[in-house]
Amino acid sequence: MTDNGEIIAQPVIQLRELGLAAAGAAAVRAAARLGLADALGEEPAGAAELARAVNADPDTLQRLLRALACYGVFAEQPDGRYVHTGASRLLREDTPRSLKDMVLWGTEPWTWELWGHLDEAVRTGKAVFPELHGMDFFDHLHAHSPESAAVFDRAMTQSSRLSALALADRLDLGGVGTVVDIAGGQGHVLATLLERNPGLRGTLLDLPEVVSGADARLQPGGALAGRATLLGGDCRREIPVQADVYLLKNILEWDDESTVLTLRNVVRAAAPGSRVIVVENLVDGSPELRFTTAMDLLLLLNVGGRKHTRAGLVSLIEEAGLTRAEVRPVNSYLHLVESVVPERG
Ligand SMILES: C[S@@+](CC[C@H](N)C(=O)[O-])C[C@H]1O[C@@H](n2cnc3c(N)ncnc32)[C@H](O)[C@@H]1O
Repeated sequence: MTDNGEIIAQPVIQLRELGLAAAGAAAVRAAARLGLADALGEEPAGAAELARAVNADPDTLQRLLRALACYGVFAEQPDGRYVHTGASRLLREDTPRSLKDMVLWGTEPWTWELWGHLDEAVRTGKAVFPELHGMDFFDHLHAHSPESAAVFDRAMTQSSRLSALALADRLDLGGVGTVVDIAGGQGHVLATLLERNPGLRGTLLDLPEVVSGADARLQPGGALAGRATLLGGDCRREIPVQADVYLLKNILEWDDESTVLTLRNVVRAAAPGSRVIVVENLVDGSPELRFTTAMDLLLLLNVGGRKHTRAGLVSLIEEAGLTRAEVRPVNSYLHLVESVVPERG
């Protein structure tokens, strides 16, 4: 209620906040770039002390902290000093479950440029990135934005840390000799599967620039190097690997044509009976609808892709020629679809 007794209705509050939601994303990005979470230790600290530590203007840092505290990122004590919350701790670099690079990735400069074109993309149903930059998103990232590419690779590893153990629990690889992780990023998931299954050998396939920065455990001299092969390549062009299990996690969310092309390349390379495991966040199976629908729209803008519904993903898998598709949960927000490479017709 305002001073003159006027009641501000919830829809008004909701829409005013939504219209300025970019400020929340900008604030958390600023905190990550300033290293604010690393500067705050276990003892409460005031804005002036934190400002000295991160080389910022004290009054303005106080304003940033106040804005972040509204979202539960840092908390203000009655004495005006700040302490960590669960969310602010995840912005620290030294925490094993850090999400700092995921925050940076979701707020990279190219994202702000793309959001402004969302209405256009909704009209055309197409990505806007290629039109704005004259080339595909991943090509541009590696050719012109190496810093953003590095943030992306680290963010994917941070994201995989959240789910790799659950996936290893859910995936029965007993008696399986070989697995290939297609577009497997820097290989955190593959390394987890190899550690969990001592008889397993694995190949990491991703773009050459990504594979060259693979997880140290998979690199020559690493603990798993004897059972790992690193392969730079383009899975839309060819998947030159024979394996018992083909894993595709969070890659078949680009345009549908690339999805079917990639899966057909699997069918071409694999022996009949090989298992194909697709892991995705499904829009109709998500407890985090705000995150999943936001990613769905961002994927539209950058790669002309989407987060799938269960039926939509199964239909693309079948269109590519795979059979016996079965959907199972991996954890609270990821599903896997297991299918089989059929006998050749
Ligand atoms: C969303 S990330 C997922 C990474 C990993 N599977 C995970 O779940 O953490 C998509 C990955 O696809 C890779 N990628 C993009 N285009 C590719 C292509 N044409 N061939 C192979 N990998 C590609 C990217 O480099 C990136 O590592």
